[in-house]
Amino acid sequence: MPVPGPGYSITIRVEAPPSASAAGDLTSAVGRVGGVITAFDVVESHADRVVFDITCNAMSANHAKDITDGLDALPGVRVRKVSDRTFLVHLGGKIEVNSKVALRNRDDLSRAYTPGVARICQAIAANPEDARRLTIKRNTVAVVTDGSAVLGLGNIGPAAALPVMEGKAALFKKFAGVDAWPVCLDTQDTEEIIRAVELIAPVYGGINLEDIAAPRCFEIEARLRQKLDIPVFHDDQHGTAIVVVGALRNALRVVGKDITKCKIVVCGVGAAGSAIIRLLQHQKPADILAVDIHGIVHPSRDNLDSNLEQIAATTNVEHKAGTLHDALVGADVFIGVSAPNLFGAAQVATMNSDAVVFALANPDPEIDPVEAQQHAAIVATGRSDYPNQINNVLAFPGVFRGLLDAHATSITDAMLVAAANAIADVVEPERLNASFIVPSVFDSNVAPAVAEAVKNASRAN
Ligand SMILES: NC(=O)c1ccc[n+]([C@@H]2O[C@H](COP(=O)([O-])OP(=O)(O)OC[C@H]3O[C@@H](n4cnc5c(N)ncnc54)[C@H](O)[C@@H]3O)[C@@H](O)[C@H]2O)c1
Repeated sequence: MPVPGPGYSITIRVEAPPSASAAGDLTSAVGRVGGVITAFDVVESHADRVVFDITCNAMSANHAKDITDGLDALPGVRVRKVSDRTFLVHLGGKIEVNSKVALRNRDDLSRAYTPGVARICQAIAANPEDARRLTIKRNTVAVVTDGSAVLGLGNIGPAAALPVMEGKAALFKKFAGVDAWPVCLDTQDTEEIIRAVELIAPVYGGINLEDIAAPRCFEIEARLRQKLDIPVFHDDQHGTAIVVVGALRNALRVVGKDITKCKIVVCGVGAAGSAIIRLLQHQKPADILAVDIHGIVHPSRDNLDSNLEQIAATTNVEHKAGTLHDALVGADVFIGVSAPNLFGAAQVATMNSDAVVFALANPDPEIDPVEAQQHAAIVATGRSDYPNQINNVLAFPGVFRGLLDAHATSITDAMLVAAANAIADVVEPERLNASFIVPSVFDSNVAPAVAEAVKNASRAN
C-alpha cells in the first residue's frame, strides 16, 4: 500500500476568502483525500482574499490531482498554480562543473591555461601515468548507460536516463567526493558501446556502467575489463551483490547460522541475481538454487544462455527442477531480484526456521514484507519505507573512492567481498538486530570504511 511521500510533493497556490475558517477548510480538504501537508504559508493578504502556498505529499501523480481538485471544489477557492517539487528540483539538471582554480588575472590565466598548461601536456605525453597526478582523471568516473534498463522503467533510451545518471553523479560527490559525469550513449549495440567507452576512457579513473540490460551488460563489462587499464564496475550487478552479501552476513549473525550450512534461493538471474550468486559463492554456502521466470535453473534445462549455463554448472548440487515454491521448501535464505508478488506467507512457512527473506524487486517486492514477517526471522527490501533497506548507495561511492585512491587498474572479486564485509562491520554488535542488519544510507562511516577496505584489497592484489 503506497503512502504519501516526498517523491510526489506538490506546492499548490490557492486563493481563498479572508474568513476565519479559510485555513481550516483548506487543510481539511487536503486531509479528506489523504494528502499530507508539510508546509502552509500565507503569501499574499488582501481585504477580499488571502493567497496560500500549501505544500503536501501525495501518493502518485493522480493522487496529487485529486488533492488539487478537492481544493478547487471548495466554495470561493481558486487554485492558481500547482508546482511539482520533484520537477522543480530537476530544472536545468542536478549537477554542474566548478573550477578548482582561481582565474582572477593574467598570471592565473597563464598558469591554468596557455602558455603554462602546455608544459603539463608535454609532461603527460612523456609520461602518461602523470595523467592521474595532473588531471581530473585522478578523481573522475564516467557513469555510462545506454538507457536500456532504467530503474523499473525499462528501455527508455539515453536522454530519458539522464536524470538518473545525474542523480548517481550527485550521490558519488555527496558520499565519497568522487567527480562522476553522466555518459548516456545513443546506441544499444554491444560493439558500439564497448568502442565508445574505450574512446572516452583516457579522461576517467574508472567506469561505472549503469542500467544496461542483461545479458548485454555481462559481455560489455567483461570485454571492457579486458581492454581498459581502469576499473569497470556494473553497479546493477556488483553494487547490489556487495550490499546483499554484506546484509546477509549480518542477518546470519542475528539468527546464528553459518553460511556454509545454508541453502540459499536466489530468484532472478539477470544482472543483479547473477552477480549476487557469484559473490555468494565466495562464502561457500551449502547450496544455491537459482530461479528465474522459467523455474529452477538446472543443467538439463533447455535454452540456457552462456550466463545461465555457467550458473547451472555451479549451483543446485542435486540438479533439482521445479518452481520457486518448490525451491523454497527447506531453504534458509531467499534473495529476490525478480518480479513482484511471487509468493506468500504459506511458502515462507515451508522454509527452515529462522528464515531470512530479502525481497528486493522494486518498487513492489516478491512478497509483501508484512506477510513475510509472519514466518521469517529477518526481512529486507529495496524500499525506504521498511527497515533493512538494501540500497546500492551503501556500496558504489566507497568502492570508487577506494579504487581511485589506490590508482587501481582493475577490480577483483576480493575487493567486492572486502566492500561487503566493510558495510556489514559498520553495524557494531550492540546495534545489530533483526530490524537493523545494514547501516543507514546516511551513515557517514560507510563510504570511508568501504573505501579503506577496497584500497587495502587492491594493494594486496
Ligand atoms: N538494491 C535493490 O533493492 C535492488 C538492486 C538491483 C535490482 N533490484 C530489483 O531486482 C529486480 C531485477 O533487477 P535486474 O536488474 O537483475 O533485472 P533483469 O531484468 O536483469 O533480471 C530479472 C530476472 O528476474 C527473472 N524473473 C522475472 N519475472 C520472474 C518471475 N515471475 N519469477 C521468477 N523470476 C522472474 C527473470 O527471468 C530474470 O532472470 C528489479 O525489480 C530491480 O528493481 C533491486
